[in-house]
Amino acid sequence: MKGIILHGGYGTRLRPLTYSDVKQLLPIAGKPISEYALENLIDLGIKEINIVIGSVGGDDVKNYYGNGSKWHVNISYTYQEKPLGIAHAIGMCKDFVGNDKFVVYLGDNFLQNGISEMFHSFKECDTLLALTEVSNPSQFGIAEVQGNRITRLMEKPEIPKSNLAITGVYFLSNAIFESIDRLKPSTRGEYEITEALQDQITRGYNVSFSIVKGWFKDTGTVDDFLECNRLVLDKLPENGLIPTLSGIASGRLSLPDDLKITKNSSILGPCYIGKGTTIDNSYIGPFSSIGSNCVIKNAEITDSVIMDGVNIDFSSRYHIRGSIVGPNASITTSNNSSKTLKVIVGRDSKLEVD
Ligand code: DAU
Repeated sequence: MKGIILHGGYGTRLRPLTYSDVKQLLPIAGKPISEYALENLIDLGIKEINIVIGSVGGDDVKNYYGNGSKWHVNISYTYQEKPLGIAHAIGMCKDFVGNDKFVVYLGDNFLQNGISEMFHSFKECDTLLALTEVSNPSQFGIAEVQGNRITRLMEKPEIPKSNLAITGVYFLSNAIFESIDRLKPSTRGEYEITEALQDQITRGYNVSFSIVKGWFKDTGTVDDFLECNRLVLDKLPENGLIPTLSGIASGRLSLPDDLKITKNSSILGPCYIGKGTTIDNSYIGPFSSIGSNCVIKNAEITDSVIMDGVNIDFSSRYHIRGSIVGPNASITTSNNSSKTLKVIVGRDSKLEVD
């Protein structure tokens, strides 16, 4: 059994962050989203993993995961020059797969309870899909089912006949490559995995499904990314507290031993703070993930992801809420009472001052 994690694509719905950073490496509670996928694969006992990288940030992915020795697995890489579709990306891994069965994990997908339970059902079929009910089915690949049989699959139908979405975890055998070879680009110009899977059904392969237990998130948009952050932080242990912080911090917390914090600051979980960060005269509130080596001065932060090396220095207490701040960004206000923000932001950036 082998594993593949996709890290290609342009991540357009997360711009401007994804002009410079790979969406699958964006952190949630101090870890890239795709590292949770890697851990799910490792939980199945998989040792051979291939990562498909694209033209945005491929080297960052390689630098982060290396040869996999940190996780005691072998990681190799396949370069997909253009995001021609999920099926195209999988098709490029044919040699890596050989005659084995394999699992493909979309690197921006997150399943609360991992994939171990589904893996057991996979042993009896050629293909297994992980399905989950969603309220917005036209945004997903959709499965129509009768009893325990899939009757039809469609990619993002305008008028969906089912609310069962295909999540981004595909248990496959190498028969999928024949179906991928027969594909033509879809109306959005991509080689669609959903069409290759439908071809498997048409040709009589045993394509089965398992209903996902717990929540599933595709983190491809700002709202979904922040919701995933909330859901992950909500799972932190109650009061993971350093003794010296009692009275200052409470709730579900993951805090580093070397946190520098002034007495007039407070932390209310669920929240995560990375190593080497300084919190000065600030309130870090529920559902905040703060990266490593940040400096946060005179700020209130809730429901946000602040990445590594960020400097936030306000002259009076501004509140940052529902925000994502990229690595090494600096947000400051000048030392007067006018509350004017002077900012340098990239294309498509969003700045909301309440
Ligand atoms: O999240 C589940 C959905 O993922 C499924 O329900 C859909 O059937 C499936 O098509 C896919 O839809 P998305 O529109 O969300 O796919 P997206 O373009 O965001 O790509 C998903 C992941 O695959 C993402 O991590 C980027 C990667 N990717 C994508 C393409 C098009 C590649 O590595 N190469 C590619 O060429």
